[in-house]
Amino acid sequence: MRIEIVEDYKELSKRLGTIILEELKKEGAIVLPSGDTPLGAYEYVLEEFKLNPFEIKATIFGLDEWCGLDRDDEGSCQYYMHKYLFDKLPLKDGQVIEFNAKALDLKEECQKMNQVIEKVKNFNLVVLGIGMNGHLGLNEPGTSFEKNAQIVNLSQRTKEVAQKYFKNKQKLEKGITLGIKNFLDAKKLILVAAGKKKKEIVKKIIESDVSEEIPATAAKLHNNSILLMDRLCID
Ligand code: PGA
Repeated sequence: MRIEIVEDYKELSKRLGTIILEELKKEGAIVLPSGDTPLGAYEYVLEEFKLNPFEIKATIFGLDEWCGLDRDDEGSCQYYMHKYLFDKLPLKDGQVIEFNAKALDLKEECQKMNQVIEKVKNFNLVVLGIGMNGHLGLNEPGTSFEKNAQIVNLSQRTKEVAQKYFKNKQKLEKGITLGIKNFLDAKKLILVAAGKKKKEIVKKIIESDVSEEIPATAAKLHNNSILLMDRLCID
C-alpha cells in the first residue's frame, strides 16, 4: 500500500477525480463509493466532463447500501451517488449496477451481485472511503477478508456516524456491501481519507499489521493500492 499525501481537500479531489476520469474512458468495471469524502472528486469529474466530454465506457458499480433503503430515500448511499454523480452524467441503461437493498431475499441479492461481478471479471478500479472504525464499504471490523458481496450487521459506531447523511434519525441495523475479497481482486485499489477526524484511524491503519479488526489494513495485502489523504489526516 503506497501512501500518498496531498496538501488539502481540493488537491485530493483533483487527484482522485483525475483517476476516475481516466477509468471512465475505458471499457471495464469500476466501483465508486458514496460518503462525504469523494464528493469533491465527483464535483471535479463533472466540471472536467463538461469542459471535455467523452464517451463513458466503464460500467460503474455502487459499493453498498443500508438494508431497507434505496435511491429514493434521501440520505441513502444510492441517493448520494445519483444526486452527486450518476444523474449528471450521460450514462446508458445498465451502466450503473447497484444492490437492491429492499429485496425480500437479500442473500439472493448478494449472490446475484457476485454472479454479475464474475462476468465482468475483476474491477479495474475500486475507490473506497474509510469509516471512522476503519470499515471499507460496510465491511465492519471483524469481517473476513475472504468475503465477496454480503449482508453485515452494522456496528454501533457506524449506526451513529451514519446519521450525518440523513435529515431525520434513521434506524439502521444491516448493510449490503461488496466484500473485501472483491476489493483485493481489483486491479487498482484506492482508499481515500480527508480531514482531521480521520487522523486517529489513519494512524492505526498505517501502524497496524494487517488485521480483520481494522478492515482498511486489507489494502496492505494488495500490490497496487494507494492510501490517498490530505495533510489534515496526518499532521
Ligand atoms: P465518509 O464515509 O466519506 O462520509 O467519511 C466513509 C465511510 O464511512 O466509508
